[in-house]
Amino acid sequence: MRASAIAHPNVALIKYWGKADVAANLPAVGSLSVTLGALCTETTVEFDAGLKRDTLVLDGREAPGEHGRLTACMEALRALAGHTGYAAVTSGNDFPTGAGLASSASGYAALVTAAAAALGIDPHDPRLIDIARIGSGSAPRSLFGGIVLLTVAAGGTVCRPLLAPAEWPLAVAVAVTTEGPKAVTSRDGMEQSRLTSPFYSAWIADHANDLDAAVRCVGDRDFFALAALAEYNCLKMHSVMLTTRPALMYWSPVTLACMQRVAALRADGVPVFFTVDAGPQVKAVCLPEALAEVVGALHDVPGVVRVIAGELGAGARVAPC
Ligand code: DP6
Repeated sequence: MRASAIAHPNVALIKYWGKADVAANLPAVGSLSVTLGALCTETTVEFDAGLKRDTLVLDGREAPGEHGRLTACMEALRALAGHTGYAAVTSGNDFPTGAGLASSASGYAALVTAAAAALGIDPHDPRLIDIARIGSGSAPRSLFGGIVLLTVAAGGTVCRPLLAPAEWPLAVAVAVTTEGPKAVTSRDGMEQSRLTSPFYSAWIADHANDLDAAVRCVGDRDFFALAALAEYNCLKMHSVMLTTRPALMYWSPVTLACMQRVAALRADGVPVFFTVDAGPQVKAVCLPEALAEVVGALHDVPGVVRVIAGELGAGARVAPC
């Protein structure tokens, strides 16, 4: 009863920010993402009859803060398999954890895939989508590769790939501006926005228009239309964050400098756009032929610690232990 899995983080081009149901961790709106092949999480799950509870070692250290959502996911997996024992979970990221690089998305996608395999459940069972979502609202997207659509319906999440990586090759350069963890988690931040931002209701009301338009851009492989829409949606989400009380200001001056650098490149005709999540890192999505220029430009922005670049990745999968 032991299995390992790997999963990649993802970055949303059309974001979600806010829950419809906090207890169930159900997002208030859908989202559209790309899976980042250059970053990786590997997780091993081993059921052990001697354990009195589930345990988690994350990047070599015990992670008691994660225990609530880990247990919630594991309980759902146990119920699905009809198994009662606890498991030791070991997980590692090859990138900074909790710093706005979607480590919880890849973490919970790898967890449910490994745990399913250890429990004898098909790792592609669609019921794992909602179980991954209990762990993190963005985790179902990391179960799939390429360009992924998540929608919310009938109290649950539906998630599917729109295009495989080879069907529309895109590349992503991540400008890491700090390796430290963020001050306010996405989960706490988005609930505070729901409660206090005067822009929150407009964000929710307008969201389906962005998502529908983005799905059309993907279908048409219209990079520049998708670029304009993704930046608009990202800045709209950050407007909600900035008008939250107390304000959620996830950007640093380096974040803004990277965004301006990317905007200047696109004004020169380079096929690239930026997106930023609940952290100071900037993800630049581009056509593969522009990647070297984009990486060079971000690298030259003062304060950028490093740039991680690669093509779109595959979905979560079982790996040899
Ligand atoms: C800004 O899904 O990471 O990245 O459910 O608490 O784990 P939890 O939140 P999470 O929030 C993601 C917020 C975002 C936008 C997005 O990825 O769509």
